Amino acid sequence: MNKAKLIVANWKMNFLNQEALNFCKKLIQKRKLIKNKYVICPPTTLIQQLALKFKNISFGSQDCHYDNFGPYTGDISVEMLKNINCKYVIVGHSERRKHHFENQSLLKRKLESVIKSNLLPIYCVGEDIKDKRKGKTNNVLLSQLKNTIPKSNKKKIIIAYEPIWAIGTGLTPTVSEIEKVNLYIKKIITKINSSYKKTLIIYGGSVNNKNSVNFLKSEFIDGLLVGGTSLKVDKFISILNCK
Ligand code: 13P
Repeated sequence: MNKAKLIVANWKMNFLNQEALNFCKKLIQKRKLIKNKYVICPPTTLIQQLALKFKNISFGSQDCHYDNFGPYTGDISVEMLKNINCKYVIVGHSERRKHHFENQSLLKRKLESVIKSNLLPIYCVGEDIKDKRKGKTNNVLLSQLKNTIPKSNKKKIIIAYEPIWAIGTGLTPTVSEIEKVNLYIKKIITKINSSYKKTLIIYGGSVNNKNSVNFLKSEFIDGLLVGGTSLKVDKFISILNCK
């Protein structure tokens, strides 16, 4: 039997209170069917009330600031997220790199802050379509990893391979393409620090309740980061059931 995988729901900027509560209630009702571990990353406004009400669900944030307190209007720190029982933080999602101009030196500081606070970072990397067409996927990943991942860290991190061209497009790499990339990522991070040998490397980009079956069969894909399909509770549960 395959080992349990990690399924992360990235709700992005979706759901108000009631929809979020209904979603989590259904997850709890169906908990006996669920075979994989999972994390829900709601909009920040919803985390506190969900985490108070659903103690058996792990919650994550979609972003954080690198400092704990200070004059940063509109930002949320890791210390604040920890204070509302958040356990994971997505760092470096391509939508934040694009819309909020997040660069590698900023992401390095965010990763350091998450790790220092003992939360688990889910660090997103991946190439765009131009780089893929030019055969530059590995170069892009190498730069995204070696300029951001802390060298002397002994705590756990999670890497999400999310090719930008696969996000929200219905397109995905093949299982064997993802496996090759994941092995490459593992090689790079293990060179950065041998303690990253057991790092989970998950895949994200147009994951649905059908293609997830094949992704989860692979021993080199440790889990999935799900966007659109994580808003549809029945489909999301069927990914959680899959082993
Ligand atoms: P989709 O699953 O909607 O393609 O989004 C993927 C994603 O960006 C998850 O972080």
